[in-house]
Order: sequence, then C-alpha cells, then structure tokens
Amino acid sequence: MPKVTIDNIEIEVPEGTTILQAARMIGERDKAHRHVVPPTMCYYSKLKTSGGYCRTCIVKVTKGSEKDPRPMPKPVASCRTAVMDGMVVENTTNPDLLDARRGVTEFLLINHPLDCPICDQAGECHLQDLGYEHGLSKSRYAFERRTFEPIDIGDTIKLHMNRCILCYRCVKVGEQLTDGRVHGVINRGDVAEISTYIQQAVDNDFSGNMIDVCPVGALTDRTFRFTSRVWYTKPMDAHRACPTCSGRVVLWMKGDEVLRVTGRKDQWGELEEFICNGCRFDHKDVKHWTVEGPRTVDRHSVIGANHYELPQKQKLLTKAAPDSTPVGRPNELPGR
Ligand code: SF4
Ligand code: FES
Repeated sequence: MPKVTIDNIEIEVPEGTTILQAARMIGERDKAHRHVVPPTMCYYSKLKTSGGYCRTCIVKVTKGSEKDPRPMPKPVASCRTAVMDGMVVENTTNPDLLDARRGVTEFLLINHPLDCPICDQAGECHLQDLGYEHGLSKSRYAFERRTFEPIDIGDTIKLHMNRCILCYRCVKVGEQLTDGRVHGVINRGDVAEISTYIQQAVDNDFSGNMIDVCPVGALTDRTFRFTSRVWYTKPMDAHRACPTCSGRVVLWMKGDEVLRVTGRKDQWGELEEFICNGCRFDHKDVKHWTVEGPRTVDRHSVIGANHYELPQKQKLLTKAAPDSTPVGRPNELPGR
C-alpha cells in the first residue's frame, strides 16, 4: 500500500486514494491532526465525479513518488490527485500554498454577495468559514458583481443565484439521487448559472438534499427561510419509521418547535445519509419523531464552536503575510 506524508505526518493508504482522502484519514486517526485536511467547496465524498471545480483543496506536492521524486511544478487539486508511494505533500506547512489558497478564496468571493447578516446559510456556510480564515479584509475587485433575476424552482427550495459558486454539487444530487434531473448549469464562463429547464420545479422525493449539499446560501429551505438564525436553534438527533429513506435526521428546534429538518452531517460537513423530502418538509411536529438527544456539531464552524478559533494554518498564514488582515470580525470579511 502506498505511503504518503502530508505536513510531516505519514500514513499508509489503499491504492487509488486521493491526497484529500489520505488527509481525511489522518484527521480521522487523530483529531489533533485535522488541520492538515484541505478545505473543500465542491468535492463531496457521497457524490460521484464531484470535485475539481473550485480549487480550494489545492496542495503542494514537493516529492512526486519514490520512483520519480521530482516535485509537481504547480499546486494540485488534492480531491483529484491520487497518492503515489513515497509522495510528500505540503498543505498548512507551506506559506506559498496558503497564499495561493487565499487567491482562490478571493476569486470565489468576486461575485459572491457578502450578505451573511441576512443569509439563511450564515453560521454554517463553508464559504463564510473559508473567507474568515483565508479572505482579505478588502476586495480588490473594481467591477460590478454579476447579479441574476430570481428564478422560482418550486415551493420548497429557494434558489438565490447571486450566491452560487458553481460547485456543481446540487447538479450531482439531481443526477444521482433523483430520476429525471430538471436542473443544471447553463451557459459557460462568467455567465454560467444554475437553472431549471424551462423553469420546471425541482420536486423530486430527494431534491431537498440539494439544500444540504450546497456549501453556500444559494439553495435554501423555503419552509425555514428567515425563521431563525441557525445558532439560536438546538440541533437534536431524531428518527422516524420512514418508507422512503432511513428517517435519521437532525431536528433544529426552538423550545418544542421544530423549525427545520436536515440530514446528519459528519466532521467534514457532508451528509451521512441523504433524506427524503417527506421527512425534511412534511414532519415539523416533534410528536412525529423519536428524539435521541442533542447533536454535537463536530466541525470547525460558527454553530460548532459558537465562535471562531484561530486554526494552526491561519497562524501560519498570518505570519506569512503580516500586512494582510485575514482574521477579524464578520464585518471585516472581504469586500465589505
Ligand atoms: S446552487 Fe449551491 S450546490 Fe448548486 S452549484 Fe451553486 S453553490 Fe453549488
Ligand atoms: S474540492 Fe477539490 S477542486 Fe473543489
């Protein structure tokens, strides 16, 4: 089995494992090493062919393999690059790489509106976390941001295209979980957008999972919109006998009221199981559920920690670029 070293930590992995998966294995083996895991905005382990779109997961390969030790000339997408025996990878230990990731973040934020104060995804948005850790305090973009006319894609999911970063995750959900996908990415380049074919509604039994996989607030739950900030709610593990899915969910509660139902997410912010729209949208009464107990959000995020910690990689980045202001209050996010 090939051995790879990521940020000076060695691990042996099965043939065909990607650098990202190897880093996640290191993080799973020892929680204290989770900082070596690159961030992901488009890769989703449960969705086939995901990854390769956003470049946030880039790493530097300083030794290709035992057989061919030459370094790879440019940063590579860790979600799409397989491990070779003897490979040496740098992520948080390489200031230049962190600087490159800062550049990727800046690109992702060129068109993304900084409307976190009114966005339903705030507090659990992967781009918010990424911007917080890697963003600049000011935007250097002088042109007008692209904006879209609102499109109605049904009565349960709200599409806010201005916030979309074109990660394709929702398209993969449509392709792999629902029959007869009715939405996708139309056009190319800076006019590419998520749309339904001839404005058809996304109403398949499993379409609600698009909300959970969307890393930003582009797809939100219409039955929850503007009901509460997510950090004011209490996540509870619960289940019910469901004929369509496993029925294992998280209830986001305020007192005895169920404000939102989502799937259960793991430490990488990915769903453990996809749930059906029946569980998600039609069972907002706590009597329909067997509540198991409070859910621990095991991920570095606002709702996970209720505050931001300064991760190790951030300390390194701050040292590498003393004149940048990557750490700050939310109102110091890039472009504000
Ligand atoms: S709507 Fe969300 S999940 Fe779909 S491509 Fe845009 S950012 Fe990704
Ligand atoms: S997570 Fe690897 S390119 Fe997006």
